[in-house]
Amino acid sequence: MMVGFGCPVILWLSLAAVQGSVLGLGEDMDRPLIGPPGSPVRLHESDAGLKKALQFVEERYNQGSNAMHLRKVSRLLSATKQLVKGIRYSITVELSNTQCKKSTMLRTCDFYPEIQKLKTEVCLFEVWDIPWQGTSTLLRQKCQPKVEVQQEETNNIVDASTSQPLEDSVELLGQFKEFMVKYNKDYSSQEEADYRLFVFHENLKTAEKLQTLDQGSAEYGVTKFSDLTEEEFQSAYLNPLLSQWNLHRLMKPAPSARGPAPASWDWRDHGAVSSIKNQGMCGSCWAFSVTGNIEGQWFLKNGTLLSLSEQELVDCDGLDQACKGGLPSNAYEAIEKLGGLETETDYSYTGKKQSCDFTSMKVAAYINSSVELSKDEKDIAAWLAENGPVSVALNAFAMQFYRKGVSHPMKIFCNSWMIDHAVLMVGYGERKNIPFWAIKNSWGEDYGEQGYYYLYRGSNACGINQMCSSAVVN
Ligand SMILES: *[C@@H]1O[C@H](CO)[C@@H](O)[C@H](O)[C@H]1NC(C)=O
Ligand SMILES: *[C@@H]1O[C@H](CO)[C@@H](O)[C@H](O)[C@H]1NC(C)=O
Repeated sequence: MMVGFGCPVILWLSLAAVQGSVLGLGEDMDRPLIGPPGSPVRLHESDAGLKKALQFVEERYNQGSNAMHLRKVSRLLSATKQLVKGIRYSITVELSNTQCKKSTMLRTCDFYPEIQKLKTEVCLFEVWDIPWQGTSTLLRQKCQPKVEVQQEETNNIVDASTSQPLEDSVELLGQFKEFMVKYNKDYSSQEEADYRLFVFHENLKTAEKLQTLDQGSAEYGVTKFSDLTEEEFQSAYLNPLLSQWNLHRLMKPAPSARGPAPASWDWRDHGAVSSIKNQGMCGSCWAFSVTGNIEGQWFLKNGTLLSLSEQELVDCDGLDQACKGGLPSNAYEAIEKLGGLETETDYSYTGKKQSCDFTSMKVAAYINSSVELSKDEKDIAAWLAENGPVSVALNAFAMQFYRKGVSHPMKIFCNSWMIDHAVLMVGYGERKNIPFWAIKNSWGEDYGEQGYYYLYRGSNACGINQMCSSAVVN
């Protein structure tokens, strides 16, 4: 059955356009893209770090251009951040001419009201920000003129991009009708059809964003799923095991500790922890977390402290995504399959994915299985003291500007479901009555306290109890 496309739909559409301009990019950016630790995360435009990065790219852009007028960001198309040593921002924006000449130092430069003078460019920037060093580096800048669609003159660029000219509505309706016919869609009521049209429109916008960002030869647009929301699509078509870290490969539960946790413990005092390493600009935190754990397990089994290879995992662990993130649970499985880990010296770190150069002749440490720990911090402490350093993951929000001391961020800044970084828990104790976890990071010795981060213990801060695991060496 076809539904009518009379006035109600068009009226509704203009309402949707108004809502759209209020919500702006926020609506779909609000939902973080939760991936394995180290993987890129989408950012909301209100993100403080992003704002700083945008200012930085504006400055650099203007320094490098010969144009007479200053350009400013007129529209944020997309932004992601990835935790590396510091933060790597990937930002796509539109930059448009302001009325300020470049010589002026004014910060309040209005855009040209006439659209033909705006001379908008679409730019992709990559910025590497290391907050604790106070450095920002522009890694990449790629700009091209925006192809302007003929539009009515307007005083406000944001309005121009979100308001819905009538022809567009008609075009959209045409596309939607075509979609309904092609995929045999049948909606039960006018309301349902209106809603599906709204979803369809949103999905078209998302597809456009994907298209803008695609560096290869892909095309994005209408598919048979174009009337489904992201949630509907995920629950109907995706394997939650693949898209959600909290449903990662199931591991055996770790046997509980034999006794209660001592008041404090630190594996650094017992020779089970190698020196601080540096993951560089690669989202390989998961590999460092896992080698750190295995170094400890091997030390406790064998009596020798080795420094083991992360690069082997970056190159040869096909279950994870190298510099784009990974899960400790997968890494253990990959190591079991490979037959073990080579040493840092034999297979040294480059911070880039290369072809796998592993040879079983050089295996220095093996593992036999892996276990997942309890989510109770007291149990975790007891287990750690008896069994060695633990691979953990956490929300690294509070780590970005950390210098020293015991970090204890408010829950709203560090919720336990936004886990984005994997590290190694090496000990615990109290400092001036404040209980802490001692956490070995992989951002170099110049980070935090000689490379270490101290996080409050006892309130599951930043989700520290969520993903605790260890390899087992028999
Ligand atoms: C530790 O490992 C080394 C090298 O794999 C091996 O030669 C040695 O016998 C092991 N020692 C113990 C106590 O297991
Ligand atoms: C543990 O794994 C190693 C290497 O794969 C193997 O040689 C050893 O027999 C295994 N130990 C046990 C108890 O299964």
